[in-house]
Formats: sequence, C-alpha cells, structure tokens
Amino acid sequence: MLTTLSRPVSELFPRVSALVKSRRTEYAEATMRIPMENYRDPEILRAERQHVLGASPVVLAPSAALRDDGDYLTRQLPDGRSVIVVRGPGGTARVLVNTCRHRGARVAEGSGCARRFTCAYHGWSYDTTGGLVGQPGRPGFDDVDQAELGLTELPSEESFGFVWLVPAGSPGVTAHLGTFAEPLGSYDYASFEANATMEVELPANWKCVLEAFFETYHFPFVHGNSMVGQGTIGNVVSFDSYGLHARLGVPGITMQNLPEDATPEDIHMSVLYFVYPNLVIANTVLGCELIEVRPAGSPDRSVLRHTFLSKVDPALIGVHNNEEYLKAIRAILRDEDGPVISSSGGGIRDAAHDFVLLGRNEPGCQHIHRQIQSALAQSVAG
Ligand code: FES
Ligand SMILES: [Fe+2]
Repeated sequence: MLTTLSRPVSELFPRVSALVKSRRTEYAEATMRIPMENYRDPEILRAERQHVLGASPVVLAPSAALRDDGDYLTRQLPDGRSVIVVRGPGGTARVLVNTCRHRGARVAEGSGCARRFTCAYHGWSYDTTGGLVGQPGRPGFDDVDQAELGLTELPSEESFGFVWLVPAGSPGVTAHLGTFAEPLGSYDYASFEANATMEVELPANWKCVLEAFFETYHFPFVHGNSMVGQGTIGNVVSFDSYGLHARLGVPGITMQNLPEDATPEDIHMSVLYFVYPNLVIANTVLGCELIEVRPAGSPDRSVLRHTFLSKVDPALIGVHNNEEYLKAIRAILRDEDGPVISSSGGGIRDAAHDFVLLGRNEPGCQHIHRQIQSALAQSVAG
C-alpha cells in the first residue's frame, strides 16, 4: 500500500530491525557528565552565542515556506535580532534586518506575500530586496541618498531546501555540513509542503530543549498516551555522527512484528537529524518536523520553533488532513514535552549537585554537548 522509501530508511532498516529483535540500543562508550554551569552560567551562554550559534550557518526558513516572489516570514535569530526572510526578484531569497532605517521600527510582522514592507511609524517603504522605495516627507531628508538607506542585508545561502544565515568568516553551508550533506540532501526538503509554524517559550536552557528531541528514552513515560509513545519503540536507536552533525534511526511499533523478509518502508521507522548547532529534524513517513531552538535572554529561557513540512497525505496514518495532524503533534509538543522540559530546566536552576548525567543510551544528547563543548574549547584555545 505504501510506496515511500527514503534512502536513510532503506540504509538503516536492517540495522534498526536487528536492534529491535535483540531488544537493545546502540550505546555510547560511557556516561557523560555535563557541568550544571553549562546550563546556568550567563558567561557560558554569551560564549555559546558567539562561538556556537553565531559562528556557523543556521537554518532560518524552509525554502518550501517561500515559494513565490514576495513570500516572506519574520523571525528572530539565535542572537535575538528580528529579521525578514524574503524571496525577491529572480527567486533570490534574502535575509534583511527588520529595522527601519529611519528610527528603527519593525517594518514587517508575521508572514505573508508582499511587494513592499511599509513601516507603520512614518511610512517609509522598502522593496523585497530591502531597497528604500518610498519616503513620505522626502524634503526633510534630501541631503541623504535614498540608496544608502536600504534595510541591512545579512549574508545568507539557500541550499538543501533551506535558507541559512551564513555568518561572515564561515565557510558556507556545504563545508559546514561535510559528510552530512548527502544524508541531509537525500530528503529533498524543497519539494515538501510548508505548514504553519509555532513558537513556544520554555523556562529551560536551550540545550535542555535540544536534548528532549534527540533521544527516545523518555517516550514511554512522557508520550505513553499519545501517538509518539504508542507508535514508537522507545529507548532503541541507531546512532551515527557526521562531524558536527548526527543521526538517530528510530523504530516504529510496526517493526516489532515484522516478518524476516519484510521490506523497508518509511512507515516502519523515523530518522532524526541533528543539524549543528540548534536544529533537530524529525523525518517521518509524512514529512518532517523542524525543531529549532534559540536562547531567550537568560540561560534558563529558550524558544522552540516548530514547523511541519509534509510530503505525504496524513490519511496514511489515520488522520484526515495536515491540519488535524499538525494539531495533534503540536499538542504533544506543548502538553507532553513542554512540561518535562520546563521541569528539567527548573530543577537544573535549583540543583545543589554538580552535573547532569547523560546515559550511554543517550548518544545523541552526548553528541550535541560534545560538539558545543568542543567549539567553546577551541575558541578559548584559538
Ligand atoms: S521609524 Fe520607520 S518610518 Fe520612521
Ligand atoms: Fe518528546
């Protein structure tokens, strides 16, 4: 009945099947201790903003959300700045700082399709390349060239189905991905359909949020009553690292009783990607969920941005349409993951002991921390 088969699933299927049969997971070599200060120290957060979140390409938008000229969305960067990601003439996507060149008001909110962004304060307007094209009361500014007053463009690149912010000095997306370019590219995300985005602010360090989406150890406890827990075999994963990035193969419940000669199909497995530094992509039979995380002001606050990209009709898993499926997965994230992440954040804030302990069965979480710690160590050494 089902014909979808992605390359990562066909590759991982025998390995993950063998794990399910033997009732074990792929373990890290040892447990890992994360100093509490890594979640609490404002100085460490400052260093992460500079040397982790601010030093490598980060995904800002799926290409699928910006199909046509003038399609735009606004969002905050990991450093808190508001930007507009917009597709302009010739199909080029740009990242523009959402700050009017007059007295700094925002020129766009939310998302949509527009030919102009007009500032609500004094009516200056900008085209989709950021150029200033309208300036009421122009004589008041006639000693300044309009060409100098465009919205500031930040360096960006569109590739692998995403628009990325590419900080100055970074070698670009392909170099950033390294050997992960092939597995990431194999999903052809640009061909998916973008659905709505939801942001949730959580009282927890940004790394606590990433942790929650890159292990399945918590599934039976947190998601036991919903489709995530009921549709998945928890605490069984394959783990692969690709330099900074990593991948988990996650068995679906249907893998439990498959015949020996069963052929791989996406409906039997999910594949989770960690795209360093702040993105988890959960690839399922229906499409993918993008889980982007950014710190929000202090070490114990963060924002989770969730976007669902669909590629297959949700009726395949018994829900009627994307809207219904989206409602269900958002509820899981908000009402099941949200409370335990918040609880973990609060406990870490109050803890009188020294470290968080990551199990051998949490290789994905260990990987995330190892990469961040290594980037911070290099910045100190360099
Ligand atoms: S601040 Fe935008 S027009 Fe004045
Ligand atoms: Fe979860």
